[in-house]
Amino acid sequence: MIKTGIDKISFYVPGTYLALDTLAEQHGIDPAKFAAGIGQSKIAVCNHDEDVVTMAAEAAAAILDIEDRAAIATVLFATETGIDQSTAASVYVHKKLDLPSRCRAVELKHACYSGTAALQLACGHVTRKPDRKVLVIASDVSRYDLDSPAEATQGAGAVAFLVSANPRLLEIEPVSGCYSEDIMDFWRPNYRKTPLVDGKYSTMKYLGALSAAWEDYADQGGRAFNELAQFCYHIPFTRMAIKAHKQLSHQNQAQNDPNLYEPGLRYNREVGNCYAASLYLSLVSMLETAEADLTGRPVGLFSYGSGAVAEFFAAVPQADYRAGLLTERHRGLLDDRRALSYDEYLGLWHAPDPQDGSATTMRQGARGRFRLAGIEDHKRQYEAV
Ligand code: HMG
Repeated sequence: MIKTGIDKISFYVPGTYLALDTLAEQHGIDPAKFAAGIGQSKIAVCNHDEDVVTMAAEAAAAILDIEDRAAIATVLFATETGIDQSTAASVYVHKKLDLPSRCRAVELKHACYSGTAALQLACGHVTRKPDRKVLVIASDVSRYDLDSPAEATQGAGAVAFLVSANPRLLEIEPVSGCYSEDIMDFWRPNYRKTPLVDGKYSTMKYLGALSAAWEDYADQGGRAFNELAQFCYHIPFTRMAIKAHKQLSHQNQAQNDPNLYEPGLRYNREVGNCYAASLYLSLVSMLETAEADLTGRPVGLFSYGSGAVAEFFAAVPQADYRAGLLTERHRGLLDDRRALSYDEYLGLWHAPDPQDGSATTMRQGARGRFRLAGIEDHKRQYEAV
């Protein structure tokens, strides 16, 4: 069978963040609760002129050259932060990136799982048409109610990757283990701006889904636990991934070795939950920060989306994969950010949200090339600076 997988990958995060020490001080909470109990140091915060479209365009623009653009036959945009009930965020990005009009551009949703659905669909597509490429973008803003236990697990970001035949970075192996169950652990009815979440129940269901997806992966002929050189998990907050790995090690009667997941936590600890993009941010973190050369050594990936769908699968780093990573750019994006005061954070949390289509102009704040200039006649106006 033809090898398919990730040829290039990049991410984008907004240029502003809230340090969780600031949140802890504001709420009179011991900062160790967030640093150790939740496992987060910062949460990325969008400016008013940034949204899933602008972050997606930033992430994707960093990896596309002229040949890629010409070969892209499909754009799959994974998000649960929809900006419209009908039209897809993918078409805005398709336009901003100047992609060929002979292309399909679709938005997919299933909570944090949709990036993986998009990746698997893309691999299937490329298997049928090996000369074409699929651009997958996962982009989300995680925003919970102020003063809620989930507030410390917010975040924002986008990851873009190009799926092709004979990929330069990672082969995605065809075996995967899946699990679906109709549960109400986290959901956002159309009339709400923030999700409803049964926090403790959601962490329990995440771990149950991991166990079930792993069992299916094993039954489908997946790799043994000890064949996997690294593990990346969906990361709502890094402590969740630490618990996940502890459980998976126990399930396989293996020693719980933090070296097997720690590289995949590093970037997420500084960004927070970016829902559909979180697993793929962890993947970039692992590829860019693991000390060991992982060429030819399979890595395990666990995707979880509340509601719930889960999948376990493996990817194999290809020869010279390190040369294709954007490590310096990504480190720069994380380091070159401004810490917000609590009041500034509150101001950004309350983003303008006209419900009647009245004209709105967004204050300049985005650090990237793409921004949401405003809303006019019920239409979002994006511009490239
Ligand atoms: P909480 O009220 O902060 O929980 O809510 P807690 O009081 O039990 O504290 C959390 C941990 O901090 C505990 O450790 C405490 O002991 C510890 P644990 O019992 O877990 O081992 N702690 C301390 N540690 C050190 N020093 C201290 C200290 N104090 C306490 N001083 C919760 C936590 C995760 C429930 C909340 O943040 C939440 O509801 N988050 C949102 C839901 C979520 O992220 N769920 C994860 C699984 S579902 C998922 O991943 C899908 C999702 O991404 C959505 C999608 O699919 O689209 C969310």
